[in-house]
Amino acid sequence: MAAVAQGDSATRRVLGAILVEIDQPNATVLSLAVAPEFRRRGIARALLERALKQAEIQGAKRACLSFVSRMPQVAALKALLRSTGWSEPAPRILFAETAPQQVLQQAWAQRVLSRGPRNATAFDWSDLRPADRAFVEAEIAAGRYPQEVSPFWDEGNIAPVSLGLRAADGRVVGWLACHFVPQRPGSIRFSRSFCHAETAFRGNGAWIMAAALERHVNSSLHQSHPTVLFDVDERNTAMMTVYRRRIAPYIDSSYQSYLVAKDLC
Ligand SMILES: CC(C)(COP(=O)(O)OP(=O)(O)OC[C@H]1O[C@@H](n2cnc3c(N)ncnc32)[C@H](O)[C@@H]1OP(=O)(O)O)[C@@H](O)C(=O)NCCC(=O)NCCS
Repeated sequence: MAAVAQGDSATRRVLGAILVEIDQPNATVLSLAVAPEFRRRGIARALLERALKQAEIQGAKRACLSFVSRMPQVAALKALLRSTGWSEPAPRILFAETAPQQVLQQAWAQRVLSRGPRNATAFDWSDLRPADRAFVEAEIAAGRYPQEVSPFWDEGNIAPVSLGLRAADGRVVGWLACHFVPQRPGSIRFSRSFCHAETAFRGNGAWIMAAALERHVNSSLHQSHPTVLFDVDERNTAMMTVYRRRIAPYIDSSYQSYLVAKDLC
């Protein structure tokens, strides 16, 4: 649902607007903005109140909203959320951008590349067989492989640097699915990465990261897409450790997304 705040009846100028998606029991605030010269007059507060009341009437029980730390008005938004009873912002996804060579040239990347993957062989993700897909889908459905990093997300934008790892017994035991990002034309997003937790495969997370960076730098894509965009879910502690140790020191810029929520009844 959408709502707008309008000026007097003569001009009917739009002063602010809100867009909320209702997917019961959740109502997600997708967008909220007030024209700069009309801020601090209670317009956002009124729009939020009205939209959430409407969402509640339509059966929503909980509202949520996510925002990123690099938004220019982030302090105003946080103050607004605090004053209208939302939860404290919880960190969700860390986004970081850099030139792939900057990470690839590090000693750890060169070391894991010369060692190769452990107890597995790499394959181009476009060579994934129907039986592999069925296997990974079944592992995800059984909860043995994590849904949050499913390689079958956003398949229309998958980039050809993506790769998988296969164990000697034929199982797919790792992947790094990379994507084109329509909103960020020069970037390749290193989006969904997974390595099997068995000890035999330890270290393959770092290897697959370095191998995808190498494929990127050596591909024709590198010229048109000179930037990599990493995103890591703050709740994925293993991946956050890899990120902090191996990637964070070589990042050009980073920002964070946060989630806030509010019970409606
Ligand atoms: C964030 C935004 C929507 C706030 O709109 P607004 O109409 O100015 O907010 P309100 O006047 O309703 O403010 C309500 C309360 O929020 C807090 N607040 C809002 N802006 C604030 C600011 N700049 N500094 C401190 N507190 C602020 C205050 O507690 C305020 O109450 P008060 O004025 O009685 O002290 C507006 O700044 C905006 O459009 N920013 C750009 C877009 C954006 O960031 N959208 C959010 C993405 S979903």
